[in-house]
Amino acid sequence: MKTAKAPLHVVRAKDSILFTDDGKQYIDAIASWWVNIHGHCNETIASAIAEQAKTLEHVIFAGFTHTPAIELSKKLIGILPNNFAKVFFSDDGSTSVEVALKMAIQYWHNQGHANKTKIIAFENAYHGDTFGSMSVAERNLFNAAFDPFLFDVNRIPLPNEKNIDHLKHQIAEWGDEGSTAAFIFEPLVQGAAGMLMYEPGYLDELIAVANEKNIICIADEVMTGFGRTGRHFAINYLQQQPDIICLSKGITGGFMPLGVTVCTQKIFNAFYADDITKTFFHGHSYTANPLACAAANASMELLVTEKCRQQIQTINESHQQFAASLQNNKLVKEVRQRGSILAIEIETAEATSYFNSIQTSLYEFYLTQNIFLRPLGNVVYIMPPYCITKNELDKVYTAILDSLNYLQQNI
Ligand SMILES: Cc1ncc(COP(=O)(O)O)c(C=O)c1O
Repeated sequence: MKTAKAPLHVVRAKDSILFTDDGKQYIDAIASWWVNIHGHCNETIASAIAEQAKTLEHVIFAGFTHTPAIELSKKLIGILPNNFAKVFFSDDGSTSVEVALKMAIQYWHNQGHANKTKIIAFENAYHGDTFGSMSVAERNLFNAAFDPFLFDVNRIPLPNEKNIDHLKHQIAEWGDEGSTAAFIFEPLVQGAAGMLMYEPGYLDELIAVANEKNIICIADEVMTGFGRTGRHFAINYLQQQPDIICLSKGITGGFMPLGVTVCTQKIFNAFYADDITKTFFHGHSYTANPLACAAANASMELLVTEKCRQQIQTINESHQQFAASLQNNKLVKEVRQRGSILAIEIETAEATSYFNSIQTSLYEFYLTQNIFLRPLGNVVYIMPPYCITKNELDKVYTAILDSLNYLQQNI
């Protein structure tokens, strides 16, 4: 925007800290758009990439494979619930979703159900910026210009105690009509929507109906994956399991772009044939880039350590305490928390929205406190690298409390 300030010029980063060219430093309290789980310039990941760069930087991933990709596939299958069997590589979160949607639609097409193409998605969903992922996302200002090109979706609200029976009935009805291919959801936390949260039990009930009615379930864990919600994956809170999971962001610890779409053997089998028309024709030049895979392997080795488990647990407990302290604050409309994600919805004269004008003043206020927080409208959230120290977290909490005081005085 013409009125936007010049971007901050970051010259280096270490752990939770970003250093800018004017000699300032900022605590990266949102893990650089939710990707950086083990801290900036983590030595283990950096060394793994450097070593890999000296061995094999890239090779076409059609007719060829390589050790980092094989190792990563095994690690992913090993850590995911045991219904998952096959890994498809791409480059980022949006493409991991795009791949999942194409996989689900072609799964039915390959089996003679070319009319099974409808997708069910949640209201307020965000799944990325490519055309398929925009289509299944909420229609809003982000994608208004492309509306004529986005495909229709059957949309349902997030489940709760009141609407769960109705939603189950609705999904069953769409299932019986026979044209629904898949149900896509961000499990437990809708990130870009403002960290909206819902309970696993309700999602279990929806997945159960979808399974019964032959609707493929796609969990978009691009944001929630790799420890964010307190378990390795948000689907670890579920009894039912989806057929496809989309992963990106934290997968490489924030070092390299990488997306993966992991599916069950059942999905894979619909493509495994000698008939070329059954082929899943989707590939990118940098598919399964060895440097990205090496980063992901190193990041996953860190993720499964006791140290990392402790770090996530400490953030979780610390967030819980801070959340409790906000309960009676008049400016706080709602506090939501799951694992290392803490969201504070601030009461303002305007409605809750990504475009709430309070966003800019809050963002700038936090920068003056040497904290990098990027509110989603009037929702301030913390999603730090797991290595953030208690002292740094306290500084972030203090800045948020100060911002509430500042608002109280200036509203
Ligand atoms: C749930 C979810 N899915 C998909 C995406 C898109 O990922 P990317 O920005 O890597 O394309 C995002 C990004 O924020 C996301 O939160």
